[in-house]
Amino acid sequence: MKTYLVTGAAGFIGSNFIKYLLYKKYKEEEIKIIVLDLLTYAGNYGTIKDDIDGKRCVFVHGDIRDRELADKLFSENDIDYVVNFAAESHVDRSIENPQLFLETNILGTQNLLDAARRAWVTGKDETGYPVWKAGKRFHQVSTDEVYGSLGKDGFFTENTPLCPHSPYSASKTSADMIVMAYHDTYHMPVSITRCSNNYGPYHFPEKLIPLIINNILEGKQLPVYGKGDNVRDWLYVEDHCKAIDLVVREGKEGEVYNVGGHNEMTNIDIVKLTIKTIHDMMAEDKELRKILKKQVKDADGEIAIDWINDNLITFVKDRLGHDQRYAIDPTKIKNDLGWYPETMFAEGIVKTIKWNLDNQEWVKEVTSGDYQKYYEQMY
Ligand code: NAD
Ligand code: DAU
Repeated sequence: MKTYLVTGAAGFIGSNFIKYLLYKKYKEEEIKIIVLDLLTYAGNYGTIKDDIDGKRCVFVHGDIRDRELADKLFSENDIDYVVNFAAESHVDRSIENPQLFLETNILGTQNLLDAARRAWVTGKDETGYPVWKAGKRFHQVSTDEVYGSLGKDGFFTENTPLCPHSPYSASKTSADMIVMAYHDTYHMPVSITRCSNNYGPYHFPEKLIPLIINNILEGKQLPVYGKGDNVRDWLYVEDHCKAIDLVVREGKEGEVYNVGGHNEMTNIDIVKLTIKTIHDMMAEDKELRKILKKQVKDADGEIAIDWINDNLITFVKDRLGHDQRYAIDPTKIKNDLGWYPETMFAEGIVKTIKWNLDNQEWVKEVTSGDYQKYYEQMY
C-alpha cells in the first residue's frame, strides 16, 4: 500500500489530483492519502468533503510551514510520496503581497523537505551522503512561469534558463531550486513537474477562465488585461494530474518534466470562445438560462441571451510585469513516460462550462465573503 501526503488538496489542482487517484487510477488498489491544507481563501473543504472517508483519505487542517505538524505526520504515518501542491498561486495577489508568497511557497516547501529528510534518512554511506529508505519520493508541483516569458517563437524546454518575473514565479523558482539543492546535496529522491495553465472543475474564479464564466452568468463585464494579446498554453486539469502521477511513480529521481498540451491561445480568443460557447449552450437549452442573474425577457417572454456577446468585454489596466507568452515543449515526458494530453481544448472548455453550470452552489460558496472584497478592489 502506498501512502501519500498531498498538500494543498483543497485547492483547484490538488483536489482534482486526489479524486483522480481515488476514483480513477487506483480505484481498485489500496492507497492512503493524507491531505494537508491550511484552507486559505483558495482552499475549500466542501470541494473534498465527500472524499474524506477517514480510511483511504484523511484530512489534516494545517500549515506546510509548521515544523511540529510536519514531523508528527511523518512519525505517525509511513509516507511514501509527498506531492506538494500547497502554494499561494495567484500572480495578481503576489504583486499586492509578495511576502506571503515567499513564506508559503519557499519556506513551506523547505519545511516539508526537511520533515521528509528527517523521516526518510536511515544513516550515512561511507562518503557521508545520507542513505534513504527505498521507494520514497518528494514531488514538487511547479509551473512554466519559472522560465519567464517567450517572444513570438520557441518553447520552454527543461533546459531553458530560469528567469521568473513576478513575485509568485520567483517564489516558485526558489522552491524548485531548493528542491534540487536537496537532491544534489543529500541525494534526496525528488522530482519536479512544470506545467502550463490548467483549467477545469473546481477552478477558483479569480483566474481567467472561471472568472469569465462566472461573470457571464452574473451579467458582469469581462475584464481583459492590456490588449488581450498575451498567450497562455492551456491544459485540462485531469491531464496534468495524470502527468504528476506518472512522474511520481515512474519519473527519474532528480529530474524535471515539463507538462503542456501545445494549446496556445491569446487571452482575447479564450474570452471570445467562452462567450460563444455559453451563448450556444443556452441557445440549445432554454432551461439553462434560468441560471443567469441578468434575466432580460424577449418578445416571447423567454429569458433572452442575445446580450451574451463580445460587447461584454472590457479592456482594463494591464498586469504589472505581465509575461507575454508561455508555451511548453512536452517532448521529454512524452518520450520518457508516454504521457500526452488526452483532452482537446474544444472538449475541455465545454466540460468546464458545464461543470460550472451544474455546480452553482460551489461557485456561490467560494465567491461569498472575501471574494467580493477582492473583486471590487481588483476591477
Ligand atoms: P490553488 O490556489 O487553487 O490551491 C492552493 C491550495 O494550497 C489551497 O487549498 C490552499 O488552502 C492551500 N495552501 C495555501 N497555503 C498553504 C499553507 N501554508 N499550508 C497548507 N496549505 C496551503 O492553487 P492551484 O491552482 O491548485 O495550484 C496548485 C499548485 O500547482 C501550486 O503550487 C501552483 O504553483 C501549481 N501550478 C498551478 C497551475 C495552474 O494553472 N493553476 C499551473 C502550474 C502549476
Ligand atoms: O502558467 C501556469 C500558471 O497559470 C500557474 O503557475 C499559476 O498558479 C496560475 O494562476 C496561472 O497563472 P496566470 O497568471 O497565467 O493565470 P490567470 O488566470 O491569472 O491569467 C491568465 C491570463 O489572463 C494572464 O495573461 C492574465 C490574463 N487575465 C487574467 C485575469 C484574472 C485577464 O486578462 N483578465 C483577468 O481578469
